[in-house]
Amino acid sequence: MTTRSATGRVAVVTGGAAGIGQAFAERLAVDGHAVAVADLGPADETVRLIEKAGGRGFAAHCDVSSPESVRAFAAEVEGEFGQVDVLVNNAGIYPATAFLGMSWAEWQRVLGVNLNSIFLLGQAFVPGMVQRGWGRVISVSSTTFHSGIGLNTHYTASKGGVIGFSRSLAAEVGEHGVTVNTIAPGLVRTATTEKGPQAAWFDALAQLQAIKRTQEPHDLVGAMSFLASDHAAFITGQTLVVDGGWMRA
Ligand SMILES: NC(=O)c1ccc[n+]([C@@H]2O[C@H](COP(=O)([O-])OP(=O)(O)OC[C@H]3O[C@@H](n4cnc5c(N)ncnc54)[C@H](O)[C@@H]3O)[C@@H](O)[C@H]2O)c1
Repeated sequence: MTTRSATGRVAVVTGGAAGIGQAFAERLAVDGHAVAVADLGPADETVRLIEKAGGRGFAAHCDVSSPESVRAFAAEVEGEFGQVDVLVNNAGIYPATAFLGMSWAEWQRVLGVNLNSIFLLGQAFVPGMVQRGWGRVISVSSTTFHSGIGLNTHYTASKGGVIGFSRSLAAEVGEHGVTVNTIAPGLVRTATTEKGPQAAWFDALAQLQAIKRTQEPHDLVGAMSFLASDHAAFITGQTLVVDGGWMRA
């Protein structure tokens, strides 16, 4: 089987201004993609990393939970790059909140950013992939879905939803050369987890893993790069757990 270089392909990374998404955007550029970043915050640093890696970079303000904002982002990406071949649904929020103290507004906000977003981004970019007969949708889930840790009912529900969505969409678009998969990280050191309650769990969780160190964003980029490539053309509807061997799912 011959494989095509990713050069000429276009990737979208949501939440690519920081953390895991920034590492994904940089790796996609290294792999030869032009990369468009959707984020609430400024992604200048990520665009610099993309360009340093030799790629074309573009970033726009986008709230992935808003239909209007995603529609506007999709139009901008279309104008900039013409098409999207790889969609990486990475944007996510993870406020630690006890269910008994959780408001309806917070539940909806987490589901909106983590799960409704993949509907909106998918509606924007999957039709073009199907039409061209090639595409990759990679969404970030979490091993909180497998472990079921507390203070995370909204988050865990959203991340389970990401897996369910991907399994079903995979069945619909497989015949058109489009694969749909998820990556489930364990606890990853990012600026957000470092300043959140998660920081207190880094050392204890590392001891539960087969590989006893805290996961970093760069530990995830190989799995994403593989799923985005031609080498993974026959892998779809799957969840790849990348957590140093914490969950043996
Ligand atoms: N860090 C972890 O331990 C961990 C573990 C498992 C899964 N994840 C998942 O990985 C993904 C990235 O996590 P991270 O730790 O890198 O997060 P992060 O907070 O470091 O970065 C997330 C990015 O998403 C952006 N974002 C947030 N809400 C948005 C919105 N409504 N629209 C557009 N952009 C938005 C933020 O501005 C930020 O740039 C999330 O889906 C998260 O749930 C993280």
